[in-house]
Amino acid sequence: MNAHNNKTHWWETATIYQIYPRSFNDSNDDGIGDLNGIRERIPYLKNLGIDAVWLSPFYKSPGADAGYDVSDYLSIDKAAGDFPEFDALVSELHNNDLKIIIDIVPNHCSIEHELFLKALASAPGSAERELFHFRDGTGENGELPPNNWKSHFGGNAWTQITNPNGEPDQWYLHLFDPGQPDFNWDNPAVEQYFLDVLEFWLERGVDGFRVDVAHLLSKDPLLPNWDGPANGKQHPDFPTQDSPMFGRDEVHNIFRSWRELLDKYSSDTGTEKMMCGEVCVQPLSWQAQWARPDEMHTVFNFSLLEIGFDSEAWATTISNSLEAFNAVGAPTTWVLNNHDVARSTTRLGYSEGYPKPGDGVGPDDPQPDIEKGLRRACAAVSTLFALPGSVYIYQGEELGLPDHTTLSAQFRNDPTYFRTAGKRIGRDGCRIPLPWNSTEKNFGFSDADSTWLPQPAEFDTYSANLQERDQDSTLQLYKLLIKTRKNLNLGSSTLRMIDHNVSPRILAFTIGETTVVMNTDDRPINISELTQEKQLILASIPEALVNEHWLAAESTVWLSV
Ligand code: NOJ
Repeated sequence: MNAHNNKTHWWETATIYQIYPRSFNDSNDDGIGDLNGIRERIPYLKNLGIDAVWLSPFYKSPGADAGYDVSDYLSIDKAAGDFPEFDALVSELHNNDLKIIIDIVPNHCSIEHELFLKALASAPGSAERELFHFRDGTGENGELPPNNWKSHFGGNAWTQITNPNGEPDQWYLHLFDPGQPDFNWDNPAVEQYFLDVLEFWLERGVDGFRVDVAHLLSKDPLLPNWDGPANGKQHPDFPTQDSPMFGRDEVHNIFRSWRELLDKYSSDTGTEKMMCGEVCVQPLSWQAQWARPDEMHTVFNFSLLEIGFDSEAWATTISNSLEAFNAVGAPTTWVLNNHDVARSTTRLGYSEGYPKPGDGVGPDDPQPDIEKGLRRACAAVSTLFALPGSVYIYQGEELGLPDHTTLSAQFRNDPTYFRTAGKRIGRDGCRIPLPWNSTEKNFGFSDADSTWLPQPAEFDTYSANLQERDQDSTLQLYKLLIKTRKNLNLGSSTLRMIDHNVSPRILAFTIGETTVVMNTDDRPINISELTQEKQLILASIPEALVNEHWLAAESTVWLSV
């Protein structure tokens, strides 16, 4: 990896743990997780062996999209805490040799953001409105939206406002919820505004940024109609290059100026600042354009998350990923879970794989086979941790948590659910508060009478306290994977696929001095061709290797060469 230089930067090989603050740990018993709650759990994070945390938004927000609608980028939401608590968290993380990455949401803010409120109070064509995409409506009296763009959460991407006299006024663009107006990134004032935001947080000591929907910021200024990807096949969140709002050339200049700022801070402070972009475009060679040397340091590679449990698809995806990112001299990232998709235990619990990322599973849907899902998720992550580059894990993944798939409608929070009239269940199921202790109230997450999303009863068996005591638990597997990956320097080693004749359901590769074999079949397979004269390093399930030659169904082993 990174043949262009020999020095490894921390973000090239790190294991980064995503914290969704409102569901991590609640220190003040209001049912919502907070910054102090994170600080209380630093010993757990340290013990897990990770290198960095990424915090989803904790800024002031009315909560139209669980914090991804920010009303003040230079603030901390009361429910999350305050600045002294944030500063204490940063310094305690740093004292424990853990980095902190925070989430920046530059495509849109909240309708309660001061700049948007000013735009509403100003006239059409004013400088205030030019910070957003305000347009007159079409139709005889402007009663129709300016174009046919759709919101990612369902429905129209435009909302009409009324003027101070209560009469119909212009429309504003929101690629997500109406509570999330899109900024106009053609306006230099927006660019400057965000450079100041980045600088503010760099001054407070953060080590990097996760950049929300980094492919969406620039739009074709003519805002032409668009009927969706030309091939008509893809999910709207994963568009092709033929659109007026995804991955336009101008967007790269934005991140070049961000990179300059980060480089300046890195050299001024002698620490390495980084950013990782959420860039939902395909193919990988296009996505890698965001990770060119003068842009983002890394981008999320979601490709393993989008495929099922299939060794051939994994082999192709791994090779394509390495090729695409090597071509721009950037490390690859690997991801199986985040706060936007059904968890891998749930997803892989379906025999056909999970078809629609982000759509979630509800009580009326067929329910996953959780036992199978967890076994496959453990095999998948055991392969993932052997890959070169950096790894992102999502809180609760290390406990093998499934989604809450029977959450009733009254508790739903995700705008996707409401904007599609329940057709898409949405993402609440993967955002449930963590179970820390099986015998405590709300499984140790909070002492409140209720939590912002309720936990299902079956979460008790996944509780961290039980898994700490059980040598065969998912939590112990994650600790072992993280530690062994680090000890063997797998993050910066070279991967070679093994061309074998064992079975098409077997994925095999070497990484440095280690051989990794994954069986995606539901039967054991004789892999003696691959195991000769090798010692077992670790396995995704106890007794994965039977008689030293048979690899158990849906399992992964690491062997020493
Ligand atoms: C991507 C975030 O991960 C998701 O949670 C959010 O809803 C959208 N961007 C909009 O900010």
